Amino acid sequence: MKVQIVDHPLAAARLTTMRDKTTDNARFRAALSDLTQMLVYEALAGAPTAPVPIETPLSAFDGTRLANPPLLVPVLRAGLGMVEQAHAMVPESHVGFVGVARDEDTAQPVPYLASLPDDLTGIPVFVLDPMLATGGSMLHTIDLLIAHKATDITAVCVVAAPEGVAALEASGHPVRLVVAAIDEGLNDAAYIVPGLGDAGDRQFGPR
Ligand code: PRP
Ligand code: URA
Repeated sequence: MKVQIVDHPLAAARLTTMRDKTTDNARFRAALSDLTQMLVYEALAGAPTAPVPIETPLSAFDGTRLANPPLLVPVLRAGLGMVEQAHAMVPESHVGFVGVARDEDTAQPVPYLASLPDDLTGIPVFVLDPMLATGGSMLHTIDLLIAHKATDITAVCVVAAPEGVAALEASGHPVRLVVAAIDEGLNDAAYIVPGLGDAGDRQFGPR
């Protein structure tokens, strides 16, 4: 599995804001939005382009566009804070939705929503979820996407635990991970340490 760590001073600064427990919900959402822009920018580096012949005010010019815009799939709730910025970066993208909430006692994913196009053959998919902890929620989402015939899946995350990365790797699924940081590990409650806490609660309040 290809793992791309977005190691940039601006990404590290936004992530520091998100990690800081004194950051309020509004500033947390703003930092996540900024960081999403950087993650999506990096995730699309090297993406295939298609020619667009145009005229500048001075001459003919062979321009380009993104050949195959990705389907954006935020994982609710926390991924909602990434989708607006990702969509602003790639306005021609379509958007699907997956809802999963971890059971607080078992850390197992409990799915509650899936709204995806039937046939994802040939369509790259960007799954947007700030946190990859045990990997259960991401693997559930990837299984759904594969059931819809996706073969080109990128997990766009802010913080990952080594356990979650290993789970994705062990799944053998065709997935790439673009992430700002891989942290030390999980605590007894399956939270990422040092992490940033509960990414859903820190944007939207407790559920
Ligand atoms: C968080 C996060 C991921 C999941 C990661 O969501 O946004 O979806 O936990 O944990 P995992 O890798 O162990 O599955 P949560 O279930 O807390 O729901 P929320 O986004 O609605 O707060
Ligand atoms: N979900 C979160 O929001 N944070 C974690 O650290 C783990 C799962």
